[in-house]
Amino acid sequence: MNTKVEDIKQQLDEFLVESSQQLEEFRLQFLSKKSDLQQLLSQIKNVTPELRKEFGQRVNELKYYAQELFDKHKNRVEETVIQRISEIDITSPSTLYKSGAIHPVSLVMNEVCEIFERIGFAIVSGPDIEDDWYVFSALNFAKEHPARDMQDTFFVNANPELLLRTHTSSLQVRTMEKCPPPIRVICPGRVYRNETITARSHCIFHQVEGLYVAQNVSFSDMKQVLLFFAKEMFGQETKIRLRPSYFPFTEPSAEMDIECKICSGKGCNVCKYSGWVEILGCGMVDPNVLENCSINPSKYNGYAFGLGIERMAMLKFKISDIRLFFENDVRFLEQFANVR
Ligand code: PHE
Repeated sequence: MNTKVEDIKQQLDEFLVESSQQLEEFRLQFLSKKSDLQQLLSQIKNVTPELRKEFGQRVNELKYYAQELFDKHKNRVEETVIQRISEIDITSPSTLYKSGAIHPVSLVMNEVCEIFERIGFAIVSGPDIEDDWYVFSALNFAKEHPARDMQDTFFVNANPELLLRTHTSSLQVRTMEKCPPPIRVICPGRVYRNETITARSHCIFHQVEGLYVAQNVSFSDMKQVLLFFAKEMFGQETKIRLRPSYFPFTEPSAEMDIECKICSGKGCNVCKYSGWVEILGCGMVDPNVLENCSINPSKYNGYAFGLGIERMAMLKFKISDIRLFFENDVRFLEQFANVR
């Protein structure tokens, strides 16, 4: 019996109480009805009369000791809780949720649209899934043009008449079919090409198409609008150059370069050491296209251009791999959180 008292005393002394949970464990182990200590108390009456007084005294002392210890632990635990609460600075701002950022492709697309809107262009949009007429035939592509090939264009399996637009020029046709001239529109959109994905090209990208159809439109009208655009987009000191090119739907056709923003025209691997980077295709709308859209080419003419958005975003933000735009890695995207 006496050793039992010693045992419990030792357990009491060794019991570690540092949290409210441990405090409750302490209470259950030593002060509850089922605790060994309570058992001892209830056994006092069974002890032989000559030993009872001394035993009763020891067990009762132990009981008070346990209660005292419990009170001490309780005070200490409560104090630390209060201390912890007082250490919390309730005036400090709570953790803010990270807000999303506008995707760099959208940033550039919005900026391009906004620049053209300022000089009177209206925005139109149209379907990503098109048919041969809007993407090729109406745009004067010859029947055997390689762009119509499966290797260059994604066709819809369920209906091979349908395909994913390979350029936003389909919207030239849709607009001219619907609206009588004068027409002054820009058409932002996503386009699809069956191409190998590399650092420089992707099977999905974005374009902004421009179309102006009126009377007596000249090539220099187009050049001036594009120069205005380049300066607004890349800074007033920006230089442009037009190189002769070929598109089935424009005649004459050109490609426009801007002086490389990465090396300021000195030559680097982005501009392939030429000092210039191509940003768009353009030209005077081919009379056949006007006719295909029931616009009289002897009365009206116009110009069209198509800009590659990713290419411009790469130049503007100095990004060297087009694939980054489509991976949606937050570490990439959050860098644009503060770009307006
Ligand atoms: N559609 C052409 C392309 O995707 C660009 C272009 C548009 C060229 C309008 C001339 C006129 O490359």
